[in-house]
Amino acid sequence: MNRISTKLTLCFFLVVLFLEVILMFYLHQNMMHTRVQEEFDRLMTNGKNHRDVLVENYSELTIHHIVMMEKNENRNVIITDKDGNIIDHSEHIKLLEDKLLIVNGQKIEMDEIIIDDWKNSPYIASAHPYEIDENTTGYVVMFQNTSVLQQMVKNMNLHFAIAGATSVIVLFIVYAILSKIITKPLIRMRDATEQISKGDFDVSLPQLSNDELGELSHSIQTLANDLNRMKSERNEFLASVAHELSTPLTYIIGYSKVAMRDELDKQEREKYLAIIAEESNRLKVLVKNLLDLAKMDENSFTVTKERFPIKPFLEKLYSLVVPSYELKNIRLTLECKNDFEVEADPTRLEQIILNLLDNALKYSKENGQVILQAFQNEHKTIIKVIDAGIGIAQEEANRIFEKLYRVEKSRSREFGGSGLGLAIVKELVDAHDGTIHVESELGKGSTFTISI
Ligand SMILES: Nc1ncnc2c1ncn2[C@@H]1O[C@H](COP(=O)(O)OP(=O)(O)OP(=O)(O)O)[C@@H](O)[C@H]1O
Ligand SMILES: [Mg+2]
Repeated sequence: MNRISTKLTLCFFLVVLFLEVILMFYLHQNMMHTRVQEEFDRLMTNGKNHRDVLVENYSELTIHHIVMMEKNENRNVIITDKDGNIIDHSEHIKLLEDKLLIVNGQKIEMDEIIIDDWKNSPYIASAHPYEIDENTTGYVVMFQNTSVLQQMVKNMNLHFAIAGATSVIVLFIVYAILSKIITKPLIRMRDATEQISKGDFDVSLPQLSNDELGELSHSIQTLANDLNRMKSERNEFLASVAHELSTPLTYIIGYSKVAMRDELDKQEREKYLAIIAEESNRLKVLVKNLLDLAKMDENSFTVTKERFPIKPFLEKLYSLVVPSYELKNIRLTLECKNDFEVEADPTRLEQIILNLLDNALKYSKENGQVILQAFQNEHKTIIKVIDAGIGIAQEEANRIFEKLYRVEKSRSREFGGSGLGLAIVKELVDAHDGTIHVESELGKGSTFTISI
């Protein structure tokens, strides 16, 4: 069931219904009161006019004229003397006689309404005293039939009921449609998230307007796309890992079978065992690097920063790697003019620089040159590893920090790389809140710059 739309519809509907009932009641009462008041005013005005005419020109003829004027269905007039005896009256007097008692015996000094219960009484009435001389006094009493008023109220009630019922039905339909329109995208998003939670990330939500619903839909779509990308990246990564592990294992299995042959002499067997040892070592490094990366991904490794002088630190690294550089006849130069303090985790920084120096050595031609440079720039420490090696094409440069990415798989294998070094470097630099970037030209060399 579409529960949220039902709730919304009911909520809106009840609030508006409540307001509408109050407003209609107020309007109804006001209109009714105004109409009734108009009738009373008219009665009073007519009575007063008749009385004024009578006072001005008291005669039987005038009385007769007044009575003649009020000979109609709804209004009647009675003219009495001071004791309430009827001098003259218009038609329907039979109905009115007992009402005269109200005037009888009462001393009414001013014009006033004497019967105002228009809801229950068949008439409303007003009395207008006149005085010609001491003996000639009396009342002009006006009567108005209330059936007109009652009919008017009945009609008004009917119209209000029709208007009320129509607006209630229209409101209900409008709210039902509106809430459906509002909740439709919500339902689509709920379905999309359910689909995501079941592991199916191929979700496509429509572009909505720029409101909160639109933002929510956009966020869900982005989440689904990210999950989809991560899923395919993970699959790709697992396939690469499996491939990376299987290659040395194939060598190990193959060569161990060969090494087991009886006819081999000692020298040959040692050669094969050396290959097995080398491949096992490669496996060990690969697994260690993978574990390192897994830890970094989980954020379960910590960077413990401390301040230490950079120059002796780099000199130590320099002397550590320089023998392997000499083996390949590559000149490694350390450029660090001023000694200054750097704030970093020394073990991790060592790992970073050794990785870069290892790459510079691996991807440099013999008799080449590599520079390890360090300086300070606006409170940041800049460390550069500059080589004049094989270089990296522009389109590859952005990808070399990805896990297991190697520019040229077969060529890298010949260099012994697995494509994890720079991914580890990047994670470590990120953990220091630093940056790393590469400038490189194919065939001319590369410069890796770290800023921490
Ligand atoms: N200084 C460099 N000159 C030219 N190419 C480089 C250089 N450094 C890295 N690369 C390219 O980037 C790829 C990724 O480097 P990375 O250090 O991540 O992996 P690797 O050196 O192949 O293996 P690993 O470091 O895991 O032993 C390398 O395979 C290589 O193709
Ligand atoms: Mg490397």
